[in-house]
Amino acid sequence: MSPKYHIITFGCQMNKADSERMAGVLEDMGYSSTEDVNEAQLVLYNTCSIRDNAEQKVYSYLGRQAKRKHNEPGLTLVVAGCVAQQEGEKLLRRVPEIDLVMGPQYANRLGDLLEQVFQGNQVVATEESYIEEDITKPRRQSKITAWVNVIYGCNERCTYCIVPSVRGVEQSRTPEAIKAEITELAKQGYKEITLLGQNIDAYGRDLPSGGIGRGVGGKVTFTDLLYFIHDVEGIDRIRFATSHPRYFSKRLIQACYELPKVCEHFHIPFQSGDNDILKAMARGYTHERYRQIIDQIRELMPDAAISADAIVGFPGETEEQFNKTIELIEDIGFDNVNTAAYSPRPGTPAAVWQEQIPEEVKTDRLQRLNHVVQQQAAKRSLRFTDRVEEVLIEGFQPKEPRPLMGRTRTNRITFLHENREDLIGQTVRLQITEVRPFSLTGKLINE
Ligand code: SAH
Ligand code: SF4
Ligand code: F3S
Repeated sequence: MSPKYHIITFGCQMNKADSERMAGVLEDMGYSSTEDVNEAQLVLYNTCSIRDNAEQKVYSYLGRQAKRKHNEPGLTLVVAGCVAQQEGEKLLRRVPEIDLVMGPQYANRLGDLLEQVFQGNQVVATEESYIEEDITKPRRQSKITAWVNVIYGCNERCTYCIVPSVRGVEQSRTPEAIKAEITELAKQGYKEITLLGQNIDAYGRDLPSGGIGRGVGGKVTFTDLLYFIHDVEGIDRIRFATSHPRYFSKRLIQACYELPKVCEHFHIPFQSGDNDILKAMARGYTHERYRQIIDQIRELMPDAAISADAIVGFPGETEEQFNKTIELIEDIGFDNVNTAAYSPRPGTPAAVWQEQIPEEVKTDRLQRLNHVVQQQAAKRSLRFTDRVEEVLIEGFQPKEPRPLMGRTRTNRITFLHENREDLIGQTVRLQITEVRPFSLTGKLINE
């Protein structure tokens, strides 16, 4: 019987994509996956360190498996991802049962690292490293939609953020490698791709000039990349995340408008609606500039969905400044906003600033903000009432009554109560019969 693995993934889409790659490596090595963590001979935690609560979750999960290892010494414990990078060796001291600590840049190299483990070593792989193109195939969760990394790392220095120190410097994949991966996905029957980068607009600035580049000095830009990959046959939809307001260009908006496969959904985090807070965060834009970008998008694509991330309780944030964030959300009318209370992260500038906001104040602001976000989302959903929407069906929902689930081009989750496996992977036209703040229900229309 083949040995079993179980991967638990925390954090963002990058981590999800990395987990799929690591699963691919493990399957290549002869492992097969199991749903039951206690049945696995190899347990891998792909960790997130964006906020303290994400980090703490890892330790509590780890504790349980570390105990199990006392009775089952053959168990291999791997900690990958952003907490692994942040803590390195310290993790081994804290949980000595761990066999392998590996940063995100090593996802491709899980096989080599495990070999060292099986030779009897405890291994820490957190040195800054160049990410080689994959030789193994990821084992993807979905057969319909796929993540495609375009740029790793982040060179921004937002004063609250741990990502640059755990994901390293920007490294773009070549347009050719990206297109080759998408072509392969299309061959396998995938219909939708999401291009991934922490700051996707930075794509290309670390690559040599030339080739398809139309940016400054002949550099390749993200917009060039969109044009370059757009026509891969078989792929119906293209999405991307995350955009940084500082770099969001008119040319990109024009490209999204012109290119039919690029979906009308923009995820552009603003973090705060107050200019002084934005400055302290070192975000490099004002709320006026942010509003201008949204206006430009809506001028060409009036129905586009807009989502974002926001932080409350950044050091020094006054009630008045917090209200500016509420104001921005109400003025723009977001389809969704991921909200978070500021969490001080090790080694980031804002973590040691005076004027930290008390937890109760942060929690209270977060609740008030979430209320507004929900209200706005509900309002935005109303526009779908009775409308006919194109929905790409991704599969059955696991929960009873197991409706089919898909998404509109604008990224609204949409349910369809039909027991029709043949619709998976199809783009169907649905008449929307029910709207909720973050999801819709529709029925097939007879044409
Ligand atoms: N690259 C993206 C976001 C990366 S992290 C961007 O620049 O917008 C995802 C989100 O986590 C951020 O948008 C931010 O809202 C939140 N976040 C990051 N660091 C945080 C911290 N220290 N405390 C609370 N939220 C944080
Ligand atoms: Fe973090 Fe800022 Fe980079 Fe986003 S752009 S990952 S918030 S440092
Ligand atoms: Fe978390 Fe790392 Fe992503 S810190 S949000 S998993 S880049």
